[in-house]
Amino acid sequence: MKKILKISGLFLGCLVLLLLFFCAYVSVVGLATYDPPITPKVTVERTTARVNRGESIAQIQCISCHANNENRLTGKYLGEIPSVFGKIYSKNITQDKEKGIGNWTDGEIMYFLRTSVKPDGTFSAIMPRYPLMAEEDLKSVVAWLRSDRFPVQPTKQEAPQIEYSFFSQLLSHTIIKPGDYPQQRISIPDSTDQVALGRYIANGVADCYSCHSADFLDQDKLHPERSKGFYGGGNKMNGEGGKPIFTANLTFDDETGIGKKYTKSQFVRAVKMGVRPDGSILRQPMGPHPTLSDYEVGAIYEYLKTIPKLKNDIAGKNAELQVATN
Ligand code: HEC
Ligand code: HEC
Repeated sequence: MKKILKISGLFLGCLVLLLLFFCAYVSVVGLATYDPPITPKVTVERTTARVNRGESIAQIQCISCHANNENRLTGKYLGEIPSVFGKIYSKNITQDKEKGIGNWTDGEIMYFLRTSVKPDGTFSAIMPRYPLMAEEDLKSVVAWLRSDRFPVQPTKQEAPQIEYSFFSQLLSHTIIKPGDYPQQRISIPDSTDQVALGRYIANGVADCYSCHSADFLDQDKLHPERSKGFYGGGNKMNGEGGKPIFTANLTFDDETGIGKKYTKSQFVRAVKMGVRPDGSILRQPMGPHPTLSDYEVGAIYEYLKTIPKLKNDIAGKNAELQVATN
C-alpha cells in the first residue's frame, strides 16, 4: 500500500512539474506561431458587383470591429471581448503599405480569413475566421479591401498592440488551433433552398452562431452544429459600458427561445434594424445588420426552425445580471 502511494505521489509530482514547465514555456514564447503558410496564388478581379457584395459583408463583419469613429479601418479597442482574453485591439486593415495590409497578396488575405494564420506564420486566436464562406464571397471581401471605397483608403493611424492574457496564450497552444484551408470549392447555396441559404448566411457569413451558442471555447468552426449549446445562447459578453450581457437563445423553444416571441417579419426587423417586437432596442454587442436582405434574414429564420430546441432562459439570466450589477 505504502509503495503504491509513493509511486502515485511521484507520478503526480512529475505531472505538476511538467505542467509548470509547460506554463513557463507558454509565458516565454507567448502566442503559438506556425511556419509561414503556402498561400493560394490568386489575383482577385475587382468587379463592381464584387466590391458591392464585399462591402455589404464587411458592414456586418469587418467594419464593426476594425473601423475608427471616422469609419476608417485603422483598428480599435474591442471592449465587448471578455477581459479574460486580454486587452484586445483590432488592426489597421487599410491599404497602407506600412501600417495596413497594402503589402499582403490577395491569396494571403484569403488564407488568413479562412485559417487565422498570417503570412509570417503568426496565429490570431481572437479574430473570427470564415472557413465556410463561399469562395465568391471571400473574393468579394478581398475586392472591397482593394477598392477605392472610403474605409479602406491608406491611413497611417493604428491601434495599440494587443495584450493577450496568459489564458489566451495558453489557449493558442492547446484548444484553439488554426483551421485548414478548404480543399474543395465552397459555393453560395441556391436561393430557392431557404434553409440552406439561411444556414449559409448565419454560419458561413454573419457568424451568428459563435455569439449565440453557449461557449466561445467550445465551438467547431467547420461543423458549427457541433458547437456547445448551438444557438441556445448564453455566451457571456461585455455590453454597453462594459456591463455583462448574455447572448439570446435563438432556437424555437416555445418558452425560452424565439418561436413564440417573433414572427418572421418581426425577426427580420430585429436583425436588420436592432428593434424588438415591443419597440425596445437590442443592446450591444448585437449590432444591426442592415445590409442583409429581407429574404436572407427570412431564410435565417427558416433555418433556425430546423435546429434542435434548447431550453435556456436568457431573459431571466440577463435580469439577474441587472440586479447583480445595479
Ligand atoms: C470580432 C471582431 C473582428 C471581426 C468581426 C473582424 N476582425 Fe479582423 N481582426 C480582429 C482582431 C482582434 C485582429 C487582430 C488579431 C491579431 O493580430 O492577432 C484582427 C486582424 C485582422 C487582420 C490581420 C491584420 C494584421 O496586420 O495582422 C486582417 C487582414 C483582418 N483582421 C481582416 C478582417 C476582415 C476582412 C474582416 C471581415 C471579413 C474582419 N477582419 C473581421 C477582429 C475582428
Ligand atoms: C457579437 C455577438 C453577436 C452576433 C455576431 C450576433 N448576435 Fe444576436 N444578439 C447578441 C446579444 C448580446 C443579444 C442580446 C441583446 C439584448 O438582450 O438586448 C442578441 C440578441 C439577438 C436577438 C433578439 C432575441 C430576443 O430574445 O429578443 C435576435 C433575434 C438576434 N440576436 C439574432 C441574431 C442573428 C440572426 C445574428 C446573425 C445575423 C446575430 N444575432 C448575431 C449578440 C450577437
